[in-house]
Amino acid sequence: MTDLYAVIGNPIGHTKSPLIHRMFAEATGQNLGYVAIEGPIGGFAGRADQFRRDGGRGLNVTAPFKLDACAYATDLSERARMAGAVNAMKFEGERAHAENFDGVGLTNDIERNLFYPLAGRRILILGAGGAARGVILPFLSEKPAVLAIANRTPDKARTLAAKFSAYGDIVGMGYGELAGLPPFDLVINATSASIADELPPVPDASFARGCLGYELAYGKGLTPFLKVARSAGAGRLADGVGMLVEQAAEAFQWWRGVRPDTAPVIERLTIRLS
Ligand code: ATR
Repeated sequence: MTDLYAVIGNPIGHTKSPLIHRMFAEATGQNLGYVAIEGPIGGFAGRADQFRRDGGRGLNVTAPFKLDACAYATDLSERARMAGAVNAMKFEGERAHAENFDGVGLTNDIERNLFYPLAGRRILILGAGGAARGVILPFLSEKPAVLAIANRTPDKARTLAAKFSAYGDIVGMGYGELAGLPPFDLVINATSASIADELPPVPDASFARGCLGYELAYGKGLTPFLKVARSAGAGRLADGVGMLVEQAAEAFQWWRGVRPDTAPVIERLTIRLS
């Protein structure tokens, strides 16, 4: 029987994961099926149980089920536990192993694809929700000079920074406090503002000349954040397509034991940011 995998979310119509995993499977000669599942809100566990009964071997998990998957897992990796969110699962008998590859996908994209080493950099993350939480630990592992988290609700950023303080130099604040700080080498928009075509209130002075501006959302072209980054002096802009493909490659390797080449898949999905 063909091994079956899926991405589960709601809504799920926009997902690129089946295309990515089918391209990986073809390129690596792996025989597997990969489908998209629209899970019922509040019904993650029941749908996951059914998928396993149908022979499902692994899941990618997207909004709004990343916390439900955390509760469902029998074995949580440290990064999934610290992020409080799961984006990939592997089923082995009674066990439901859970991982979060979002952060390592992002650091791989920045360091390997964009050739932008993170060690010693001043990094600013905008937002303190699920997307931000998922990337903090992998960033701190790369030993930046400082990791600042700015959020509209400042206390959420401070709480998050306190939670990760044992792992590196991390500080949380409101946007107003950014004005007193030197500029950053890498500014990441991890808010959900771009979905509504809105802009987090980051001051122009927070972008160092020639810095990298990275939008975690993908496929939206030049978002308000990327436009501001460019006019404030960013030398390079990126959206989350590379992160999406890199986290998928991590999951594929975890499931199948083979590492697919990400470059052709990123190229296929990239929309020019100009
Ligand atoms: P996600 O899982 O995508 O991170 P989330 O957990 O709902 O979604 O978090 C959304 C993040 O975007 C939060 O940091 C939110 O700020 P608040 O904590 O103050 O709500 C941020 N956000 C959403 N819209 C925003 C906007 N228009 N300007 C600035 N920040 C915004």
